[in-house]
Amino acid sequence: MAGWVPLPLSTSSECSAVQLTLVGVGPGNPELLTVAAVRALEAADVIAHPIAHEGAEGMALAIASRWLRPDQRCLPLLFPMVAEAEPRIAAWRAAADALVDEVRAGKRVVLLCEGDVSLFATGSYVQLALRRRHPDVPFALIPGIPSVCAAAAAAVEGSHDIPLAFQQEGLLIRPCPDTEAEFTALLDSARRTSTVLGLLKVGQRWSWVRAALEQAGLLDQALFAQRVGWPDQWVAPARAVPDDLKPYFSLLLVRQIWPEVLP
Ligand SMILES: C[S@@+](CC[C@H](N)C(=O)[O-])C[C@H]1O[C@@H](n2cnc3c(N)ncnc32)[C@H](O)[C@@H]1O
Repeated sequence: MAGWVPLPLSTSSECSAVQLTLVGVGPGNPELLTVAAVRALEAADVIAHPIAHEGAEGMALAIASRWLRPDQRCLPLLFPMVAEAEPRIAAWRAAADALVDEVRAGKRVVLLCEGDVSLFATGSYVQLALRRRHPDVPFALIPGIPSVCAAAAAAVEGSHDIPLAFQQEGLLIRPCPDTEAEFTALLDSARRTSTVLGLLKVGQRWSWVRAALEQAGLLDQALFAQRVGWPDQWVAPARAVPDDLKPYFSLLLVRQIWPEVLP
């Protein structure tokens, strides 16, 4: 088909100038990598991937592992999960430098990112660090399927339909608020502005989030999605999720409004 440009880190020789690609690997299921992502993995010599502590495997690497070969070298990059700025800045800079060292040594390098590469992603900090510290080194981004989109699709397996947005509706993807008051205000504002919510990082907040949803009469309009795309995926209306659950990797979709005209 005429007109399509191959994505930068394909095996095409026209594109060989870009040796470094930040690749979104989707939410969990290795089948949800894009064709471009798989091609970038196949072409890479070095597979860089985030880890939260020394010795950890890393989710992005686990997702991509089906597409990797034994001759490819893995490069774990440590991104500590701390609130302080200094260690985080140091980690982003060190990651950018380590990636560029590999490129300068003639390697083709990918950095794996869970979900999409630009959505609440460590990869975005690395992107900015690369631009500031190594402006002469070109790199590319390959988007991945975001967890919110994967959750809406997975909902259908349980016969739950929660399209993310119709026509003039809004879609707000953001972390779950930290307090019940903020959460309730967000629900109100989303209803008034015809906005569907995709709330990430529900985690430890679940017990009061569930109570607030119940108070607002929204237990059946909210979809809870845990570890979408993984073998232990759980996607269910909020009503079915007990309040003492401490979900690890979970999000919430809340649709309070529907178009007037529907099939
Ligand atoms: C740092 S953000 C990464 C978002 C990711 N870049 C994306 O595109 O979806 C991590 C949060 O995304 C959500 N998340 C990511 N993957 C998920 C999955 N497979 N199932 C459920 N929630 C997921 C959770 O709310 C988690 O706390």
